[in-house]
Amino acid sequence: MSEADKAVSTASTASAGNAVIGVVGTGLMGVGIATQSALHGFRTVVHDVDPARLASVAPKAQAVLDELIDAGRIGPEAKQAALARIETHADLEVMRAADFVIEAIPEVLELKHRLYEKLTALLADHAILASNTSGFTPDQLAAPLRAKERFVIAHFWNPPHMIPLVEVVPGSATASDVTAQTAALMTAIGMEPVVLTKAIPGFVGNRLQFAVLREALNIVRSGAATPEVVDRVMKASLGRRWGIVGPLEAADMGGLDTFLDISTHLMPELAKDEDVLDLLREQVDAGRVGVRSGAGFYDWDDVHLAQVSEGRKRVIGRG
Ligand SMILES: NC(=O)c1ccc[n+]([C@@H]2O[C@H](COP(=O)([O-])OP(=O)(O)OC[C@H]3O[C@@H](n4cnc5c(N)ncnc54)[C@H](O)[C@@H]3O)[C@@H](O)[C@H]2O)c1
Repeated sequence: MSEADKAVSTASTASAGNAVIGVVGTGLMGVGIATQSALHGFRTVVHDVDPARLASVAPKAQAVLDELIDAGRIGPEAKQAALARIETHADLEVMRAADFVIEAIPEVLELKHRLYEKLTALLADHAILASNTSGFTPDQLAAPLRAKERFVIAHFWNPPHMIPLVEVVPGSATASDVTAQTAALMTAIGMEPVVLTKAIPGFVGNRLQFAVLREALNIVRSGAATPEVVDRVMKASLGRRWGIVGPLEAADMGGLDTFLDISTHLMPELAKDEDVLDLLREQVDAGRVGVRSGAGFYDWDDVHLAQVSEGRKRVIGRG
């Protein structure tokens, strides 16, 4: 067993106990979340309405675990143990056995509400229900639930084995111990939770991401730089810095007086409108949706994809 393997298995036995984690919806996010949970020692029961999706859980989990093996993070024993802990179930009833359920079904409010109507009748009294929603507020989501105090948002990023952040967002009715237990559980499954004080659209991470995207589009639209130059600037500067200090730490380090001077003349120049979205619309209307169609701002060939894959491997290897 490698050292990394031992670390995972020690953390697992210390924290997993007999808790059962449920995951509802085994698409892109659900499989990643279930794999993290199982890798960290939790019996993980998963359910999906689509039998094909359910059948794809094991191969997709294997692919995630193989990537961790390739990056030197775990050994083959940890992979086998994790796979053995994931149970797929065609019946939602299995969630009766879960202590903590993470919902990861599509971002459609009616769908989530219909599911919650069923779950509210099923879940154990002590169980916590968490949604991986990208944007709905906890109060919007919790409407059909009887135990609103046991509901919270746990917003993972894709893919969870590479991006550790989980934004834990309580609603107005969420009990404080539910928020605390959720954050503790996220730590126990190898994630890095942050707790927001209140829900705002996009939480924190997506607000930062889309503020940067708006300005990136604005720069390209202005003709001042190509998409290649914008991306190189980010990767060779802020991409490196922000992995060490966040934007507010960076401002403290640069000097708030200096940042105030710069912001005073620069911020009025930055994009504030949604007209920049025309740049995305033009691409989408032309069928250029990015990697999925082979082209977007870039023509995606195998060489470019392999470069991204190498970078991803380096980041996963760092842990
Ligand atoms: N894709 C991302 O990068 C990302 C990141 C963070 C959060 N999210 C959020 O996570 C959630 C899931 O996103 P995804 O990308 O994994 O979606 P997805 O479409 O890949 O998977 C959703 C799965 O839910 C299943 N499903 C639909 N209705 C169901 C039901 N009633 N009961 C059980 N299963 C059901 C579908 O069959 C599908 O397998 C969404 O709320 C999304 O906004 C997505």
